[in-house]
Amino acid sequence: MSPTPSGLRIKSPESLIAESGADLEGHGLKRTMGLFQLVCFGVGAIVGTGIFVGLSDTVAEAGPAVILSFILAAITCIFTAFSFAELGGAIPVSGSSYSFAYATLGERVAFLVGWCLLLEYGVSVSAVAVGWSQYLNELLDSVFGRQLPEALSAGPADGGVINLPAVVVILMAATLLVRGIRESAGATAAMAVLKIGILIVFCAIAYSAFEAGNLTPFLKDGMAGVTSGASLAFFSYIGFDAVTTAGEEVKNPRRNIPLAILICIGIVTLLYVAVAVAAIGALGADAVGNKPAALSLVVDQVTGSSVGGGVIAFGAVVAIASVVLAVMYGQTRILMSMSRDGLIPRVFERVSPKTHTPVANTWIVASVFAIPAAFSSLDAVVNLTTIGTLATMVAVNIAVIALRRSHPGLKRSFRVPLYPVSPILGVGFCLYLIWGTGWTTWVQFAVFLVVGALVYALYGRRNSRLGAGEG
Ligand code: ALA
Repeated sequence: MSPTPSGLRIKSPESLIAESGADLEGHGLKRTMGLFQLVCFGVGAIVGTGIFVGLSDTVAEAGPAVILSFILAAITCIFTAFSFAELGGAIPVSGSSYSFAYATLGERVAFLVGWCLLLEYGVSVSAVAVGWSQYLNELLDSVFGRQLPEALSAGPADGGVINLPAVVVILMAATLLVRGIRESAGATAAMAVLKIGILIVFCAIAYSAFEAGNLTPFLKDGMAGVTSGASLAFFSYIGFDAVTTAGEEVKNPRRNIPLAILICIGIVTLLYVAVAVAAIGALGADAVGNKPAALSLVVDQVTGSSVGGGVIAFGAVVAIASVVLAVMYGQTRILMSMSRDGLIPRVFERVSPKTHTPVANTWIVASVFAIPAAFSSLDAVVNLTTIGTLATMVAVNIAVIALRRSHPGLKRSFRVPLYPVSPILGVGFCLYLIWGTGWTTWVQFAVFLVVGALVYALYGRRNSRLGAGEG
């Protein structure tokens, strides 16, 4: 576990597994999750703002060819999912890509991966909360006939002053998490069924007004539109790797983790394509593109009343709130792992003796990410989440190759097909979608990485427990 001769500080996979107790049944966290629960957990973490809100932005970019955008995003996820599956099956511990990078690419890269996870989880909390706010307004409209004033329900970039509902949902989630309330296995399954159910109801209503002519012209802005659409569509798949964060609580993880990830991506791809075709087929791409709470709008127009849209809005409000809870939970646990490794201050690993939860950590996360939720546009936070997630996925694909070289004999329940073609294609597709996020996002991301590298040099490297020989 000490620095390697090459100078990289690498945590060996064996020690990560031993720390988590994953090699000993009954040691560490309890192994209670089976395949069904794991798939529900995955669907619960994946389906949220991306399809309910982001779909309309994606349609504005790609038109009916949004179908290709979803498929490209899904292919990117599948190659990377193979890599997650191989790593999750070989090193079945919590902590996701951060732990995988620590075991393969060394502490510096692991720190930067953890830093990017602040975008994938933290900024994603902000993005999902901004999306929630749109459907809350839609729900208020259909129940009371009134919406919150724009000044209080959108950030300055979207014509308002402050997005208060987005802040409120983040504070509510933090309050639940510090009290130790997270979704039980039953609630997770119920939430996944609810999400799939609402989207199926949506499809059933929208298909009743389907007109094939609305799907032409298919390629609105050529392949450029499909590419930027794929980068936006990718947001709606983020969360499939959450399945690997549950590594220590899964029964037979070497089989169930890879299988669950692939099943989740398959289910959501079918749903997303069906929803996109239904929405565009009913109203046409121009009527769906760039509209707030677009799914409710489609149902209102198709049924000619606000009741159906209200039902969809209610479902979306509940469903998206659960994503805020799940993603914020993931963020606090990743920070705990990094804090235990000494890479960030110890306040993040402190657990309250009263509630047995990381109280300070949770409130810091909530306060920090409430700021972009209050003042940013949805586009800005979605793009930052997307680029940060894609960057961690590049690292995960490279980690597969690194682990095969460093530990060829390690037990692997799942091996990526066509090695090394699959992880290399994974890197290629991630870079392609990074390209599609556009230069403003690249510049913001570059600044973010430079700050991360400085934090590592000035704090993480000096305080690392592995570096001090304690890891
Ligand atoms: N995939 C998650 C969502 O769409 C982040 O809300």
